[in-house]
Amino acid sequence: MTPTKRTIRSFVRRTGRQTPSQQKALQELWPNAGIEYSNEQLDFAAVFGRAADTVMEIGFGNGDTLVQQAAENPHKNYLGVEVHEPGVGHCLLKARDAGIGNLRLIMHDAIDVFSDQIPCESLARVNLYFPDPWPKKRHHKRRIVQHDFLNLVADRLRGGGSLNIATDWADYAEHIDEILSQSDRFTCSERRVHDGEQPLDRPRTKFEQRGLRKGHQICDWCFVK
Ligand SMILES: C[S@@+](CC[C@H](N)C(=O)[O-])C[C@H]1O[C@@H](n2cnc3c(N)ncnc32)[C@H](O)[C@@H]1O
Repeated sequence: MTPTKRTIRSFVRRTGRQTPSQQKALQELWPNAGIEYSNEQLDFAAVFGRAADTVMEIGFGNGDTLVQQAAENPHKNYLGVEVHEPGVGHCLLKARDAGIGNLRLIMHDAIDVFSDQIPCESLARVNLYFPDPWPKKRHHKRRIVQHDFLNLVADRLRGGGSLNIATDWADYAEHIDEILSQSDRFTCSERRVHDGEQPLDRPRTKFEQRGLRKGHQICDWCFVK
């Protein structure tokens, strides 16, 4: 059977302004820290040069939070996936300034990366912080948290691994509660609603700060496979 081409994506590729230093980072730092998308599965021990727990972050934005986590947890491997090129450039610069060696980046749709590059039962944790909320009803199908996404993540997480999600959109929080409550692959180990003062096992992110300035409440979850 010929596979059908996926047309609904959780992002729109923004061109965005790229600073000269971000461009330079992509030329000079990408060869060491970047992994090209391909349809071959990754060998994490080879990619990171060691065997360690691997944490994947989907849609890291400018990467400040991702670099902070990698710097604070040198014994873990971090894999960031983002489609926005200026964000990837910013993250490369931050990682170089932090002097960390436990972070690798892929610039591609995380759904394809999960399907094609991540081996089954290979991840210790997946972080999805402030995914695009797609607030209009006709766009809800673009939200990344869907049944197929959960099954894909569950297949790639090892037993006992976790999916950690945060959002500042009340309506997306309801959607996440609903979809996860229908999944038999995950159990919710913690759900926390707060005003930005109690992020669940993560640093505060740029989009979280944006939401807080608008008066939004934050919802954090930890779902365990
Ligand atoms: C609202 S921003 C949040 C950024 C960051 N996590 C934060 O909290 O500041 C969502 C990000 O997810 C990225 N994104 C959306 N869908 C994606 C996908 N399928 N694969 C990779 N990145 C994606 C977007 O490019 C965007 O940078």
